[in-house]
Amino acid sequence: MWTEFFRPKTLDEVVGQQEIVGRLKQLGTQADFPHMLFSGPPGIGKTTSAEAVINEIFTLAQRAANVKRLNASDDRGINVVREDIKNFARVLPSGGAKFKLIILDEADQMTSEAQHALRRTMETYNEITRFILICNYSSKIISPIQSRCAIFRFKGLQKKEVISRLQFIATKKKLKIDEKGLEALYESSEGDMRQAINALQAASSLTTEVTDKVVYQVQGYVKPTELSEIIHNCIGPKPNFNAARKKVVNLMEAYGLSGQDLVKHFNSQLSTIPEKDLPGSLRYEALVMLSDVDYRLASGCNPLVQFDAFLAKLIALSQS
Ligand SMILES: Nc1ncnc2c1ncn2[C@@H]1O[C@H](COP(=O)(O)OP(=O)(O)OP(=O)(O)O)[C@@H](O)[C@H]1O
Ligand SMILES: [Mg+2]
Repeated sequence: MWTEFFRPKTLDEVVGQQEIVGRLKQLGTQADFPHMLFSGPPGIGKTTSAEAVINEIFTLAQRAANVKRLNASDDRGINVVREDIKNFARVLPSGGAKFKLIILDEADQMTSEAQHALRRTMETYNEITRFILICNYSSKIISPIQSRCAIFRFKGLQKKEVISRLQFIATKKKLKIDEKGLEALYESSEGDMRQAINALQAASSLTTEVTDKVVYQVQGYVKPTELSEIIHNCIGPKPNFNAARKKVVNLMEAYGLSGQDLVKHFNSQLSTIPEKDLPGSLRYEALVMLSDVDYRLASGCNPLVQFDAFLAKLIALSQS
């Protein structure tokens, strides 16, 4: 997995999150290292930063005895907190480490009962053991725990940050990827670096020259603008059936979309076209026509024929 292979080992390698990285570096050097809570959306560096903190404050030899990691695949019930976590937390650090560290990934999956037990453990063994709790939603962490932690809110990564990391990986993997391909990776993954890297890896299994088309294909994602262009080709003052048809064929062939996929995409896109371009009655007719296409496709009709008819009817209606 490229996401693992290219996971930053140090805080300096973490892309973006500057303010957080700065605070973490500072805290790492202090003896009064606090409990910490990392929150934020998926794939933006929370677990990565926790691992980097471990690398920063523990030597390789110290890690085995002084660091414990628990994640969602482990049981999160109260018994784990009462036994595993407590047993680890109360034993003195060894090998010259100043304290022990427990990383509780996906902490928002813990029951409230388990969180209350955890809170007591955090208090009791505070001198010996620190915690880094990681979650997507800090609101799911009970407030007595929140108030004992330094809180780090990770933000979605910016376009240029995701793109610079993807470029770095592409170079290492001797992949060619153009500007549009990079943008497509960013757009279709919405700032989630894990998803963007996974999509790059999937694209690389198809070709060594990655373009936006390849990306959309592996992501099963269609740029909303492409669909709205097709609709506009049919409803504008100068309708262009051939242009619309060509784009539909392209979506189905190049992106490997099935007729039913396309129905779904059109269905959601139709509701986003402004009223001035697509007045109510026409929009309703179009939705009804689309449901006919859906029905016929389900009974085995030819998708291209069905979409030709859909586009033609849309043009006829908008001109009438
Ligand atoms: N800020 C970043 N800089 C560089 N690589 C990143 C960054 N964020 C994520 N990645 C890449 O994405 C992968 C997943 O990131 P990470 O495990 O840190 O996500 P997370 O924020 O913990 O998400 P989740 O909430 O899903 O656990 C990493 O292995 C790394 O390759
Ligand atoms: Mg994580």
